[in-house]
Amino acid sequence: MERKLLLANAHIKGIETLEVYRQHGGYKSVEKALKTMAPEAILEEVKTSGLRGRGGAGFPTGMKWSFIAKPEGVPRHLVCNADESEPGTFKDRYLMEKLPHLLIEGMIVSSFALGANLSYIYIRGEYFYVARIMEKAIAEAYKAGLLGKNILGTGFDLDLYVQIGAGAYICGEETALIESLEGKRGNPRIKPPFPAIAGLWGRPTVVNNVETLAAVVPIVNDGGAEYAKIGIGKSTGTKLISASGHINKPGVYEIEMGITVEDFIYSEAFCGGIRNGKKLKAVVAGGSSVPILPTELILKTAAGEPRLMSYESLSDGGFATGTMMGSGGFIAMDEDTSIVKNLYTFSRFYHHESCGQCSPCREGTGWMEKILHKILDGRGTLKDVDLLWDIQSKIEGKTICPLGEAAAWPVAAAIRHFRKEFEEYVTNPQNIKDVKHFYRLNQLTEA
Ligand SMILES: Cc1cc2nc3c(=O)[nH]c(=O)nc-3n(C[C@H](O)[C@H](O)[C@H](O)COP(=O)(O)O)c2cc1C
Repeated sequence: MERKLLLANAHIKGIETLEVYRQHGGYKSVEKALKTMAPEAILEEVKTSGLRGRGGAGFPTGMKWSFIAKPEGVPRHLVCNADESEPGTFKDRYLMEKLPHLLIEGMIVSSFALGANLSYIYIRGEYFYVARIMEKAIAEAYKAGLLGKNILGTGFDLDLYVQIGAGAYICGEETALIESLEGKRGNPRIKPPFPAIAGLWGRPTVVNNVETLAAVVPIVNDGGAEYAKIGIGKSTGTKLISASGHINKPGVYEIEMGITVEDFIYSEAFCGGIRNGKKLKAVVAGGSSVPILPTELILKTAAGEPRLMSYESLSDGGFATGTMMGSGGFIAMDEDTSIVKNLYTFSRFYHHESCGQCSPCREGTGWMEKILHKILDGRGTLKDVDLLWDIQSKIEGKTICPLGEAAAWPVAAAIRHFRKEFEEYVTNPQNIKDVKHFYRLNQLTEA
């Protein structure tokens, strides 16, 4: 079932303008929060809502906010993470393009709750046109007295700036993002201290995803308890899913958490089934870094229960038989997809994006890419498949930031669930269309 809390007005013509946005109830939560609520009361509503961070890790937002340090006289900051570089994830771009004022509204209320008077939106470099949309909306909000000094006469001041990154995936990791925002190379920091204690310029900082901050608007408008009624278990509310791959209707969908994966893939309200009547082979459910699952495991848990679109159900069975919600980048692959070739694409990406600070990630991502290249080139051996497994196991948990895991998990899952396919590539390369194609491609590039 479709349930729209964030995207309900996305189809309205001109909704990106302040005028039309306000005609449809926009900025009501700012009026309510700043005029009638104490910051602590907003925090309580967010806690009650059960909202979990939509950037990937699913950490409870209210709890994260409650960690923010409040040393006397030290400014605090809210930073919106709009870096969105995970392959398969494009929902934040959609939200900012369609509803820039929803994000600004969520940021005003959240900044007020956190006691931040200077906040930032950090946008990935490739989204320069989205940054322009945000800047235009921010200028409108300043003009209307929704940003700047003494917002709506309440005495609350907030300045909001857009900072464009240089297009590095690592700058989505919150401490690398903070380094980049400070004008340095985007290398992740060692934690602790966590940003809530020492973040931007060493000051208490909360970093939240675009969708998380937008969700604060309906939570404040309707109350945390109402929000918590939507969804299932500890997966409350709605979730934006970026759906791509071999489906009939790719796009961004807002779902109520708890619908079945099968419904999401096959119903007309969402993906509309697999293209050209083909069979589904596998799904990467939460962006390229989460474990891939074959059809039988993505549709049903190991216990035979229907798999649901929720944090708990997607991770049911751990990595042996489950996966993760991640950032909601849902990539469906049909029966003709080569898992090995797909994995090579992902591994190439992670190698390119590793910041190089930690040896296991810097070296390991490169080795994995090279081995997969060798296998696709028809020169792989069974030992290479074991070596791939070995290398991924030596990256996980051994790096400063989770880019290491993001690179290792797809390799582990592909081998765990599709080992036969890897074996076929190395034992009968002459029979594999991709190998021949890949070899020709390489010859062309080398020539
Ligand atoms: C390599 C890497 C890339 C990340 N990229 C993003 C991103 O593009 N957007 C995002 O919101 N979170 C990203 N994260 C997660 C952030 O570090 C952080 O957890 C998130 O912004 C917190 O917001 P939330 O609590 O609202 O989810 C990334 C993490 C890692 C390790």
